[in-house]
Amino acid sequence: MLHVSRLCAAHGAVQAVREVDLEVPAGDLVALIGANGAGKTTTLHAIAGLHKPASGSVRVGGRDITGWPCHKVVRSGVAMVAEGRRIAPPLTVHENLELAVYSGRTTKQQQKDGLARVYDLFPRLADRRDQLAASMSGGEQQMLAFGRALMTRPDVLLLDEPSMGLAPSIVDVLFETITTLHESGATILLVEQNAELALAVSDHVYVMQRGRIVSHGDPDEMRSEPEVMTALFG
Ligand SMILES: Nc1ncnc2c1ncn2[C@@H]1O[C@H](COP(=O)(O)OP(=O)(O)O)[C@@H](O)[C@H]1O
Ligand SMILES: [Mg+2]
Repeated sequence: MLHVSRLCAAHGAVQAVREVDLEVPAGDLVALIGANGAGKTTTLHAIAGLHKPASGSVRVGGRDITGWPCHKVVRSGVAMVAEGRRIAPPLTVHENLELAVYSGRTTKQQQKDGLARVYDLFPRLADRRDQLAASMSGGEQQMLAFGRALMTRPDVLLLDEPSMGLAPSIVDVLFETITTLHESGATILLVEQNAELALAVSDHVYVMQRGRIVSHGDPDEMRSEPEVMTALFG
């Protein structure tokens, strides 16, 4: 389980994250929604070790990982699929997936099993295993970014706007996979600007506005919250 307490993070003078509290219980899919600029990405980066928090704490399964560098965070079991899918374009699909070995979290056998599992989840990646990542479509690159995160066998998966810029048919495929992972027991924190999509798949929803959590609850409760609409559209 992931536990974030009174987390603050800034970009220079911009207080992007202000005393954020949130919890992702083991096996749950929790959504963090909010308008552009609300502070969602900064929150994920502060958890993943890509941005040093100013204060507050991040705990995973009871272990305090606050301020750890990202390679240590990955080793502790947290993997992130970044906004805009950072894959290695000059490498093939297969080579991108094999990079996960550097996380130091997997044995050779686990690496092999991981590859099989990723290719099973995304048959399109299996078909394109020897293709250069750079030559793939946006949707395929997003699948690869997912696959690479899964290769580290994360206890907690952080997803930053997986639907961004993708065609609806690809978004459907990705969200079916997110649902499959959720059903298989994965613990997921999903950042989405598309609130409908987030509400449809999650167990619990947090709404972020100008750096703060302004509301949270079950998807059904959130649908009737005026704050949700304000946070998302203005
Ligand atoms: N690298 C940066 N330098 C300066 N300000 C930034 C930077 N990244 C984000 N910000 C600012 O921090 C706030 C939160 O941004 P971000 O976390 O990216 O929000 P979201 O992911 O919800 O769109 C915004 O006001 C944004 O302009
Ligand atoms: Mg963002």
